[in-house]
Amino acid sequence: MHQLMTPNIPSVDAMISVRGVRKTYAVAGSAAARKSGGQTGSRDVEALRGVDLEIREPGFYAVMGRSGSGKSTLLHLLAGLDRPDVGELLVGGSAVHAMKEDQLVRYRRCEIGVIFQQFNLLPTLDALANTILPGVLDGRPTKELEIRGRELLSELGLRDRIHHRPEALSGGEQQRVAIARALFFAPPVILADEPTGNLDSTSSAALWRLLEETAAQRKMVVLMVTHEAIAASHCRRTFILKDGRVAGDFESHGLDPSQLAHRSSELARTA
Ligand SMILES: Nc1ncnc2c1ncn2[C@@H]1O[C@H](COP(=O)(O)OP(=O)(O)OP(=O)(O)O)[C@@H](O)[C@H]1O
Ligand SMILES: [Mg+2]
Repeated sequence: MHQLMTPNIPSVDAMISVRGVRKTYAVAGSAAARKSGGQTGSRDVEALRGVDLEIREPGFYAVMGRSGSGKSTLLHLLAGLDRPDVGELLVGGSAVHAMKEDQLVRYRRCEIGVIFQQFNLLPTLDALANTILPGVLDGRPTKELEIRGRELLSELGLRDRIHHRPEALSGGEQQRVAIARALFFAPPVILADEPTGNLDSTSSAALWRLLEETAAQRKMVVLMVTHEAIAASHCRRTFILKDGRVAGDFESHGLDPSQLAHRSSELARTA
């Protein structure tokens, strides 16, 4: 089934629905830019120029596209870390674009999971304390949080690493702690921005399998930005961003990575 929808058709039951989203960054011009003839001290970067994307079914999905095509910007907006200039972003039924600041704080803490290339774990906290951090920030009783944290870490194969700090964990283990933290409040969606960018190929393959299983078992959406065709071959669909728009999407699960790379670069080039 084609997941892209014509804008304007309402879809209340989508797990992710992005409609007509635009985002422009104002950037202060460098001295060099002014010297070489720029008249103003600033220029705008149109990072997203009308993104429409819809995901209805749980599962593992990929976003690919050239550097600068707007992938991270889209994830930031979905994560509530920044706001669109115009357009709508619905995530698990929440209208993220319309939230007030206090609603966004709660959304980021309790209603969405995010994982990054850099893991973003706090270095002074052990795996358990990092995992339960969203609950601590939400003011919940620690005992209850620790039960849930231990359970999640065990499910992710880290039972023996619960009291290790990040420096005493491998990259793959650190990313699994970040996944445990992202899963803490069982959000409907996890967003992952190049989650294996700092991992070796063996740990990367294990992480893609884990994300695929997590999405299937927990009936959630995992939306991952990646540059690697082999990563997207674990995903049921791949969306291609080009110059701040979705240029197309295709079924990608089990595709041969070289075929997938070809398909994605064709869309990134011709659309
Ligand atoms: N905070 C910002 N201020 C100004 N410009 C920005 C900002 N964030 C992103 N941009 C610009 O917006 C465009 C899209 O950036 P984005 O980070 O979304 O690309 P990307 O597809 O994630 O690229 P990459 O694959 O290199 O990570 C780029 O031209 C980038 O320079
Ligand atoms: Mg990026």
